[in-house]
Amino acid sequence: MDFGDLVIKKHRLFIGGCDTSELAEKYGTPLYVFDVARAEKTAKSYVDILKREYGDFTVCYASKAFCCVGIYGILAPFGLGADVVSGGELYTALKGGMPADRIYFHGNNKSAQEIEYAIDSGVGCIVVDSLRELELIEAAAPKAPINVMVRVNPGVEAHTHRFIQTTLTDSKFGFSIADGTAESFIKSVVGNRYVHFCGIACHIGSQIFEKQSFEIAIDKMTDFIVRLNSIGIEVERLDLGGGFGIRYIDADSPLTPQEYMSNSARYLKDAVKRKGIKPPRLIVEPGRSIVGEAGITLYTVGAIKTIKDVKTYAAVDGGMFENPRPSLYDAQYTAVVADRADLEATDIYSIAGKCCESGDILLRDIKLPKLGSGDILAVLSTGAYHYSMASNYNRNPVPPVVAVKNGRSVYMIKPQSYEDMTRNDVIPNFAEDSRNA
Ligand code: LLP
Repeated sequence: MDFGDLVIKKHRLFIGGCDTSELAEKYGTPLYVFDVARAEKTAKSYVDILKREYGDFTVCYASKAFCCVGIYGILAPFGLGADVVSGGELYTALKGGMPADRIYFHGNNKSAQEIEYAIDSGVGCIVVDSLRELELIEAAAPKAPINVMVRVNPGVEAHTHRFIQTTLTDSKFGFSIADGTAESFIKSVVGNRYVHFCGIACHIGSQIFEKQSFEIAIDKMTDFIVRLNSIGIEVERLDLGGGFGIRYIDADSPLTPQEYMSNSARYLKDAVKRKGIKPPRLIVEPGRSIVGEAGITLYTVGAIKTIKDVKTYAAVDGGMFENPRPSLYDAQYTAVVADRADLEATDIYSIAGKCCESGDILLRDIKLPKLGSGDILAVLSTGAYHYSMASNYNRNPVPPVVAVKNGRSVYMIKPQSYEDMTRNDVIPNFAEDSRNA
């Protein structure tokens, strides 16, 4: 396995200069650990490449991958903006210091309150996904026209897991280019005095490895710009979404973030030239590729159970409440023992979570050095869609996130207590409802 920026010294796994066994000892497990320098490096390289290869652009970090106040303070100084998809993500981004004008508000069913909140906060752009959202903007009667982009569906089938494709012809997202609904909707947006039409947005899927998928999307989107130009509609911005794949297991062979981004930038520059259109401002929204490989999760091994002639389960103190991806998507991971990271893997284990579901298995049939109860297990590439998709299922607290850099560690998200989990719970008292009087 290519360990990326992780380091092994005397068989012990280090992240951000910190010994993972010591982190587990100091903060307890399960624990999410986030390598700040790794995320900064990727974010900076996206910005540097687009400066060099394209010029007019915004890199919007896709908040859904890992949304917490601290991440914006890390990414905003590099000039990144943010893609948010809910009032909660918007609130968190603003609280984290992300300038409002660099925020793009996505999502397929924004509520009236969310639209008003976005307008009041002065977000840079609302990416409209339905006629109802346009009506909600009108109803909010903004004083100055609101910048909007229209989410379109270019009909690109990216090769990735079925559940995370969002741009097939049958999709809950966006207006289809192929059946003409995108064009007719955009005409009505252009004629609406409450909004300023800035451009078009798409997102062809997530965890994509083939650069050709993005090239096809660029072809279809620039063809559509040609079409809009021909009926007198200017397109100032083109949002290509996110989707660059990362490495979870040895068999994954993603391009580097630099390769993905420079390929898309060059391909777009070329398409724009060939088709004679005005170069639009390029918006990209990487999420997973910025934070995914920056994160790991540490667990303590508890019960080990061998079922004769079947398998050996090693149970850990995490599970689907802090990583629902194996049960949702059959997602696969790499695990190492924190203090025997490069020792020979001799035994086969299935790593079970602690939730009351037989499907709560985090890793199936993986080879590891012989495990004992109390061992610390590190699961790699857990920085994206882990904390953000965690729940309190079985009333397990969501694990804290510890940020590491240059051998130092500090909380980025503090531990959740039992009291935190019950803070909003009340025993129903119907006498409080005045209608009962
Ligand atoms: N922009 C838009 C409009 C999106 O819908 C998404 C992801 C992104 C950007 C970021 O894509 P990324 O660079 O992270 O691939 N929960 C799933 C992933 C769902 C992604 C949905 N949209 C998972 O755990 O794999």
